[in-house]
Amino acid sequence: MTRSLDRAGGFSTRAIHFGYDPAEHLGALVPPIHTSATYAFPDTGYGARCFTGEEKGYIYSRIANPTLALLEARLASLEQGAGAVVFASGMGAITATLWSMLTPGDEVLADLTLYGCTFSFLHHGIGHFGVTVRHVDMTDPEQVAAALTERTRVVYIESPANPNMRLADIAAISRLSHARGARVVVDNTYCSPYLQQPLVLGADVSLHSVTKYLGGHGDLMAGAAVFADAELAERVRLYGLKDMTGAVMSAHDAHLVMRGLKTLALRMDRHCQNAQQVAERIAAHPAAAVVHYPGLPSFAQHALAQRQMRQMGGMIAFELHGGLQAGVRFMDALRLVTRAVSLGDAETLAQHPASMTHSTYTPEERAAHGIPEGLVRLSIGLEDVEDILADIGQALDHALAPEGAARGGARSLSSVF
Ligand SMILES: Cc1ncc(COP(=O)(O)O)c(C=O)c1O
Repeated sequence: MTRSLDRAGGFSTRAIHFGYDPAEHLGALVPPIHTSATYAFPDTGYGARCFTGEEKGYIYSRIANPTLALLEARLASLEQGAGAVVFASGMGAITATLWSMLTPGDEVLADLTLYGCTFSFLHHGIGHFGVTVRHVDMTDPEQVAAALTERTRVVYIESPANPNMRLADIAAISRLSHARGARVVVDNTYCSPYLQQPLVLGADVSLHSVTKYLGGHGDLMAGAAVFADAELAERVRLYGLKDMTGAVMSAHDAHLVMRGLKTLALRMDRHCQNAQQVAERIAAHPAAAVVHYPGLPSFAQHALAQRQMRQMGGMIAFELHGGLQAGVRFMDALRLVTRAVSLGDAETLAQHPASMTHSTYTPEERAAHGIPEGLVRLSIGLEDVEDILADIGQALDHALAPEGAARGGARSLSSVF
C-alpha cells in the first residue's frame, strides 16, 4: 500500500495512516507537532503570492498549519468529504460554519431539539445579525418540506439529537432541502464518522465536537467541520475561522486527536456494545418509564437508525417513574458512573440536561422542544460492562426505593468495587 493520500484503505487504516509518510519526516512514525505561529517566506514575492493564493505555502497558523492540515485531511477522508476545517471547540466549528453560510435576511430551519449552546447561538447570537431561525419537527420529513421557504439557506440537524436521541432522516431531508436550494448541516458528534457519514447520505456539512468521541479521552477541546464542497470549506476557513471567530485548534491538541483517531473504531465498537446492554438493563427495570436508545426495538425510529447508522451509539436518555425527583435520586446514588457533562469519554458519565447542558432553554422552551425536566442522559464509557451495569442497577433500585437501597452504606467507589 502506498503511504501517500490513499482513499482505498479501510476506515481504521485511514484513521491511522492517511496523508502521512514517515519517509518524508526523517522516519518519524508519529507525525511531528508544528508549533510555529508563522512561516518564513524565501522572498517577498513568494509571500505576496501566498496571500493572493497563487502559491499554496503556509502563511500563519490561524489560517493553516501542517499538523492541523494532516488532521483535516484524515477527517475529510473518514467522512468522505472534499475538505475539512478544524477548530478550537465544537462551538467554534458550529459558529464559524454558520457565520460563513448565512447573510442578513437568510433563514435557518432547525430541528426542535439541539445541544444547549447551539440553541443559544441560534436564539441569542446570530439573530442579532438579521438571520431568522425557525424550528420544525425533523423526525417528519414532510414537515421539513412544508416549512422550507425561498429564504431558507441552512437546514440544521443533530441526529441523534442531544439530549433526547431523536433521529432525522438525513437522506430524505437532504433531497428535500436541495430541491429548494438550501444546504444541510448535520451535527454528527453523537456518532463520529465511524457510526454515521452524513455527507454520504447527502448532507453538505458534517460538524463535530471533537472534544467528544474523536478526541475520546476527555483531555482536550476541539471541533471540526467536514464539507462536501471544497469551495465552502475554503470560505469557512478564510472567513469563519480566520476573520469571524479565530477559533484555531492548537497543534498539540491536533496531535492528541490523531492519537485518539487511531483507536476510534475500537472504542466506538465497545461504547456501542456496552450501551446496548445498559439500555436493555434500564428498560427492564421497574423504575424506568421510558428509555431512548436507537438499539432498542421499542425506539420509535429503530428502523431509521438501522438504515442510517453503522451501530447504535454510546448515548442513552431515559426518564424514571417519579420524574425529576427520581432522576436526582438516581444520579446521586451513582458510585462508579461520574456525574459530569460532556460525552464520548472512556469514563461513563451521567448528567441532567434540564439543569445542566440544556439550562440555556427556558422551562417553556424545553417543554416545547421535547426535553422533559426529568430526563437523564448517559454517555456509556469503556469500563467493564458488568461494573457499569452493577452501578446503574443499584442507582435505579435507589431511585425506586431510596430507603431500602440506601442500606448499601457508604457511597464510595471502593466500597462497591
Ligand atoms: C452535540 C454537540 N454539539 C456541539 C457541542 C459543542 O462542542 P464543544 O463543547 O466542543 O464546543 C456539544 C457539546 O457538548 C455537543 O454535545
